[in-house]
Amino acid sequence: MAILIDHPCVQHKLAIIRDVDTGHKRFRELATEITKFICYEALKNIKTKKVLVQTPVSEAKCYKLDTNLVVVPILRAGVGMLEGILELVPTARVGFVGLYRDEISKLPVTYYERFPKQIKDGTCIIIDPMLATGGSTAAAIDKLKESGAGDIVVVCIVTCPEGIALVEGEHPDVAIYAAAIDEKLNEKKYIVPGLGDAGDRLFGTST
Ligand code: PRP
Ligand code: URA
Repeated sequence: MAILIDHPCVQHKLAIIRDVDTGHKRFRELATEITKFICYEALKNIKTKKVLVQTPVSEAKCYKLDTNLVVVPILRAGVGMLEGILELVPTARVGFVGLYRDEISKLPVTYYERFPKQIKDGTCIIIDPMLATGGSTAAAIDKLKESGAGDIVVVCIVTCPEGIALVEGEHPDVAIYAAAIDEKLNEKKYIVPGLGDAGDRLFGTST
């Protein structure tokens, strides 16, 4: 299931982050801001517990988060979304999966993984700005499931129908939240219109 976050404030920021003239400093700021908005929506149904709080006036019935949240950025571009979700849930734990797309085959190659043990009874949020062919995200979900994770959600900034179909086909239990579902992939498996190479734009590198 793919859920599009089409709030005007998100779409406004998306217009700026897509712009080829947006430099890496602003790109990073926007990735943080957009991530916070998407995650706000993606965490809407997260488990809470009732607590009683003494206000200066009386006792108030309140709710606090009651789940182990584990954020899993896909290295490297996923790191650009980490600050945004941690601003929303500062107590979240962080795991990492290192993946890159092989330049020729376009298939994901895993080079690192490290997850906190709380993935087994908590909610895992995979973050990566781009879900293109879906190969990297599907591989990250595989790694988490092999390590015992049950409840997994994906948050990306831009995706496309091909990527959604691949992840949904392999992992129908995993919801995908995105700020844009673009038209297609080009011959280099880049999202069209997309925003280019997210890692390069975040970190000021170029290939
Ligand atoms: C990008 C992006 C995703 C992946 C998406 O990473 O951040 O991880 O490509 O493509 P896919 O859906 O077709 O697998 P990249 O491989 O460029 O590595 P980087 O983050 O280190 O730049
Ligand atoms: N990776 C990116 O960074 N951008 C794309 O469009 C596809 C894969």
